[in-house]
Amino acid sequence: MVIKTTEFVKSSGKWQECPEPNLPEYAFIGRSNVGKSSLINAMMNHKDLAKTSQTPGKTQLINHFLINENWYLTDLPGYGYARVSKSMRKDFEKINTNYILNRQNLVNLFVLVDSRHTPQQIDIEFIEWCGESGIPFSIVFTKADKLKPNTVNANVEVYRNELLKTWDELPDMYVTSAEKKIGGDEILKFITKTNEF
Ligand code: GTP
Ligand code: MG
Repeated sequence: MVIKTTEFVKSSGKWQECPEPNLPEYAFIGRSNVGKSSLINAMMNHKDLAKTSQTPGKTQLINHFLINENWYLTDLPGYGYARVSKSMRKDFEKINTNYILNRQNLVNLFVLVDSRHTPQQIDIEFIEWCGESGIPFSIVFTKADKLKPNTVNANVEVYRNELLKTWDELPDMYVTSAEKKIGGDEILKFITKTNEF
């Protein structure tokens, strides 16, 4: 897919405030600081479409971007940010889970995990919840430039084995680097494939 136009549409505090669900939508979610906003920018060839930060917790609202005037890309608040209060964390969780469960035009959720780490409980729990809730999702490994390719592959394998403990079928997986612009094209191919634009 060639990216012709990108446009920030709005930030919403809850799913009811999101734009009309009249176009196919794809959302990025994952722990704070995992690289959601950076990957969106890399894929869109845009330096600061989605705001990024070294400080976790930058994206606190549901951000909608209109791409090529025919689909939405959504940047969701990160989960598991330790440095906010428990009640604030619960609020973020609510924003995300209500959005995921209610957004009618959501075609696929991309769950981002850091390729440097072994499976983290919070990510596994979230992935399990997606599966149990019947949400179509894929797993996206981020920051692959920080590791040697062999180590990335080994970490992906650990992930597969962890998920195979509970699931017979594995979701699609993508290895990416926003820094080196790796993997974004595969994600865009999937987006094209799952929709007739
Ligand atoms: P929140 O909005 O807080 O949930 O974070 P986020 O998931 O949107 O992360 P963000 O894109 O803001 O990136 C967090 C930090 O990781 C920034 O310092 C980025 O520069 C860095 N980062 C993101 N992607 C990559 C990558 O592919 N490679 C490297 N080396 N650094 C990255
Ligand atoms: Mg962000």
